[in-house]
Amino acid sequence: MKLIFASGNQYKLQELQSKLNSSIEVLSMRDVGFAGDIDEPGETLEENAKIKAEYIHNLFHENCFADDSGIEINALNGEPGVYSARYAGEGCSFADNNEKVLEKLKGIEDRTARFRTVIHLIYDNQHYVFEGEVKGKITMTNKGVDGFGYDPIFIPDGQIKTFAEMTLDEKNSISHRAKAVQKLSDFLLNR
Ligand code: IMP
Repeated sequence: MKLIFASGNQYKLQELQSKLNSSIEVLSMRDVGFAGDIDEPGETLEENAKIKAEYIHNLFHENCFADDSGIEINALNGEPGVYSARYAGEGCSFADNNEKVLEKLKGIEDRTARFRTVIHLIYDNQHYVFEGEVKGKITMTNKGVDGFGYDPIFIPDGQIKTFAEMTLDEKNSISHRAKAVQKLSDFLLNR
Protein backbone atom coordinates (compact mmCIF):
# COMPACT_ATOMS: atom_id res chain seq x y z
CA MET A 1 0.00 0.00 0.00
CA LYS A 2 1.36 3.42 -0.96
CA LEU A 3 0.62 6.64 0.84
CA ILE A 4 1.94 10.15 0.22
CA PHE A 5 3.07 12.00 3.33
CA ALA A 6 2.54 15.74 2.92
CA SER A 7 5.78 16.77 4.64
CA GLY A 8 9.37 17.35 3.62
CA ASN A 9 10.72 16.64 7.11
CA GLN A 10 13.27 13.79 6.94
CA TYR A 11 13.26 13.32 10.73
CA LYS A 12 9.54 12.63 10.67
CA LEU A 13 9.80 10.36 7.67
CA GLN A 14 12.42 8.25 9.44
CA GLU A 15 10.25 8.04 12.56
CA LEU A 16 7.22 7.11 10.46
CA GLN A 17 8.93 4.38 8.48
CA SER A 18 10.11 2.74 11.69
CA LYS A 19 6.60 2.81 13.17
CA LEU A 20 4.49 1.78 10.18
CA ASN A 21 4.17 -1.82 9.08
CA SER A 22 6.49 -2.63 6.16
CA SER A 23 3.47 -3.32 3.95
CA ILE A 24 2.80 0.44 4.04
CA GLU A 25 5.13 2.40 1.80
CA VAL A 26 5.30 6.09 2.65
CA LEU A 27 6.24 8.38 -0.22
CA SER A 28 7.79 11.71 0.69
CA MET A 29 7.10 14.94 -1.16
CA ARG A 30 10.48 14.50 -2.83
CA ASP A 31 9.51 10.98 -3.97
CA VAL A 32 6.52 12.42 -5.82
CA GLY A 33 8.50 15.35 -7.25
CA PHE A 34 6.99 18.12 -5.13
CA ALA A 35 9.53 20.70 -4.01
CA GLY A 36 7.29 23.55 -2.82
CA ASP A 37 6.05 24.60 0.59
CA ILE A 38 2.43 24.25 1.64
CA ASP A 39 0.98 27.22 3.52
CA GLU A 40 -0.39 26.57 6.99
CA PRO A 41 -2.94 29.37 7.53
CA GLY A 42 -5.14 27.38 9.95
CA GLU A 43 -5.85 28.45 13.52
CA THR A 44 -5.77 24.91 14.90
CA LEU A 45 -3.59 21.84 14.39
CA GLU A 46 -6.67 20.09 12.97
CA GLU A 47 -7.19 22.79 10.33
CA ASN A 48 -3.57 22.83 9.21
CA ALA A 49 -3.32 19.03 8.92
CA LYS A 50 -6.51 19.03 6.80
CA ILE A 51 -5.31 21.91 4.58
CA LYS A 52 -2.02 20.12 3.85
CA ALA A 53 -3.62 16.73 3.17
CA GLU A 54 -6.23 18.26 0.85
CA TYR A 55 -3.59 20.24 -1.01
CA ILE A 56 -1.62 17.09 -1.83
CA HIS A 57 -4.76 15.09 -2.58
CA ASN A 58 -5.94 17.72 -5.06
CA LEU A 59 -2.56 17.62 -6.81
CA PHE A 60 -1.94 13.87 -6.97
CA HIS A 61 -5.35 12.22 -6.42
CA GLU A 62 -3.67 9.56 -4.29
CA ASN A 63 -4.19 8.36 -0.74
CA CYS A 64 -2.25 10.73 1.49
CA PHE A 65 -1.91 12.19 4.95
CA ALA A 66 -0.48 15.23 6.71
CA ASP A 67 0.34 16.01 10.31
CA ASP A 68 0.59 19.07 12.46
CA SER A 69 2.02 19.23 15.95
CA GLY A 70 2.57 21.73 18.68
CA ILE A 71 3.12 22.25 22.37
CA GLU A 72 0.29 23.65 24.50
CA ILE A 73 1.21 25.26 27.81
CA ASN A 74 -1.60 25.54 30.32
CA ALA A 75 -0.43 28.71 32.10
CA LEU A 76 -0.15 30.41 28.69
CA ASN A 77 -3.73 29.50 27.71
CA GLY A 78 -2.54 26.80 25.31
CA GLU A 79 0.19 28.90 23.66
CA PRO A 80 2.21 28.42 21.52
CA GLY A 81 -0.04 25.64 20.13
CA VAL A 82 -0.52 25.95 16.39
CA TYR A 83 2.13 28.70 16.36
CA SER A 84 4.84 26.49 17.94
CA ALA A 85 7.26 26.68 15.00
CA ARG A 86 7.30 30.49 14.87
CA TYR A 87 6.45 31.44 18.46
CA ALA A 88 9.37 33.89 18.84
CA GLY A 89 8.72 35.42 15.41
CA GLU A 90 9.20 34.64 11.73
CA GLY A 91 12.59 33.03 11.08
CA CYS A 92 13.24 32.34 14.79
CA SER A 93 15.32 29.40 15.99
CA PHE A 94 14.29 26.56 18.31
CA ALA A 95 16.48 28.21 20.97
CA ASP A 96 14.60 31.52 20.56
CA ASN A 97 11.28 29.74 21.10
CA ASN A 98 12.52 27.93 24.20
CA GLU A 99 13.91 31.15 25.64
CA LYS A 100 10.57 32.87 25.08
CA VAL A 101 8.68 30.10 26.88
CA LEU A 102 11.09 30.08 29.84
CA GLU A 103 10.85 33.86 30.08
CA LYS A 104 7.04 33.85 29.99
CA LEU A 105 6.87 31.17 32.66
CA LYS A 106 9.24 32.99 35.05
CA GLY A 107 7.64 33.07 38.48
CA ILE A 108 4.68 30.94 37.36
CA GLU A 109 4.14 27.78 39.37
CA ASP A 110 1.96 25.84 36.91
CA ARG A 111 4.39 24.44 34.32
CA THR A 112 2.11 21.74 32.95
CA ALA A 113 1.99 21.33 29.19
CA ARG A 114 1.29 18.80 26.48
CA PHE A 115 2.55 18.01 23.02
CA ARG A 116 -0.17 17.16 20.56
CA THR A 117 -0.10 15.72 17.04
CA VAL A 118 -3.01 15.61 14.65
CA ILE A 119 -2.86 13.42 11.54
CA HIS A 120 -5.35 13.96 8.73
CA LEU A 121 -5.67 11.00 6.36
CA ILE A 122 -7.48 10.96 3.03
CA TYR A 123 -8.04 7.34 2.11
CA ASP A 124 -10.30 6.26 -0.76
CA ASN A 125 -11.62 9.84 -0.74
CA GLN A 126 -12.75 9.56 2.90
CA HIS A 127 -11.30 11.75 5.64
CA TYR A 128 -9.99 10.37 8.96
CA VAL A 129 -8.33 12.16 11.89
CA PHE A 130 -5.96 10.62 14.45
CA GLU A 131 -4.58 12.37 17.52
CA GLY A 132 -1.74 11.67 19.92
CA GLU A 133 -0.72 13.57 23.03
CA VAL A 134 1.90 13.41 25.74
CA LYS A 135 1.48 15.37 28.94
CA GLY A 136 4.37 16.74 30.95
CA LYS A 137 6.07 19.77 32.46
CA ILE A 138 8.24 22.64 31.26
CA THR A 139 11.67 22.68 32.92
CA MET A 140 13.32 25.75 34.50
CA THR A 141 16.27 25.60 32.03
CA ASN A 142 17.29 23.85 28.80
CA LYS A 143 18.45 20.27 29.31
CA GLY A 144 19.87 17.89 26.70
CA VAL A 145 21.02 18.33 23.12
CA ASP A 146 19.13 15.71 21.11
CA GLY A 147 15.84 15.97 19.29
CA PHE A 148 14.49 19.31 18.10
CA GLY A 149 12.09 22.12 18.92
CA TYR A 150 10.91 22.24 22.52
CA ASP A 151 12.55 18.91 23.44
CA PRO A 152 15.15 20.52 25.80
CA ILE A 153 12.47 22.12 28.00
CA PHE A 154 9.88 19.31 28.18
CA ILE A 155 9.82 16.40 30.64
CA PRO A 156 7.02 13.90 29.97
CA ASP A 157 4.98 12.78 32.99
CA GLY A 158 6.54 9.77 34.71
CA GLN A 159 10.02 10.55 33.33
CA ILE A 160 13.05 12.31 34.81
CA LYS A 161 14.70 13.27 31.51
CA THR A 162 13.66 15.88 28.95
CA PHE A 163 12.91 14.66 25.42
CA ALA A 164 16.30 16.13 24.44
CA GLU A 165 18.09 13.90 26.96
CA MET A 166 16.46 10.75 25.58
CA THR A 167 17.57 8.57 22.70
CA LEU A 168 15.42 8.72 19.58
CA ASP A 169 14.02 5.28 20.44
CA GLU A 170 13.13 6.33 23.97
CA LYS A 171 11.35 9.45 22.74
CA ASN A 172 9.61 7.63 19.90
CA SER A 173 8.19 5.03 22.28
CA ILE A 174 6.18 7.68 24.18
CA SER A 175 5.86 10.74 21.94
CA HIS A 176 2.68 12.44 20.79
CA ARG A 177 3.62 11.77 17.17
CA ALA A 178 4.30 8.09 17.88
CA LYS A 179 0.85 7.72 19.43
CA ALA A 180 -0.89 9.37 16.49
CA VAL A 181 1.14 7.31 14.00
CA GLN A 182 0.26 4.13 15.91
CA LYS A 183 -3.43 4.95 15.49
CA LEU A 184 -2.90 5.60 11.77
CA SER A 185 -1.02 2.32 11.44
CA ASP A 186 -3.71 0.32 13.31
CA PHE A 187 -6.37 1.85 11.10
CA LEU A 188 -4.55 1.03 7.86
CA LEU A 189 -3.75 -2.54 8.91
CA ASN A 190 -7.35 -3.24 9.84
CA ARG A 191 -8.77 -2.13 6.52
P1 IMP B 1 5.26 20.18 13.15
O1 IMP B 1 3.85 20.51 12.83
O2 IMP B 1 5.44 18.74 13.49
O3 IMP B 1 6.23 20.64 12.10
O4 IMP B 1 5.64 20.94 14.48
C1 IMP B 1 5.54 22.35 14.60
C2 IMP B 1 6.46 22.81 15.70
O5 IMP B 1 6.05 22.23 16.95
C3 IMP B 1 7.92 22.40 15.53
O6 IMP B 1 8.62 23.35 14.75
C4 IMP B 1 8.41 22.39 16.95
O7 IMP B 1 8.71 23.69 17.39
C5 IMP B 1 7.18 21.90 17.72
N1 IMP B 1 7.24 20.42 17.87
C6 IMP B 1 6.45 19.50 17.25
N2 IMP B 1 6.80 18.26 17.63
C7 IMP B 1 7.83 18.39 18.48
C8 IMP B 1 8.63 17.45 19.19
O8 IMP B 1 8.48 16.21 19.10
N3 IMP B 1 9.58 17.97 19.97
C9 IMP B 1 9.79 19.30 20.10
N4 IMP B 1 9.12 20.21 19.44
C10 IMP B 1 8.11 19.77 18.63
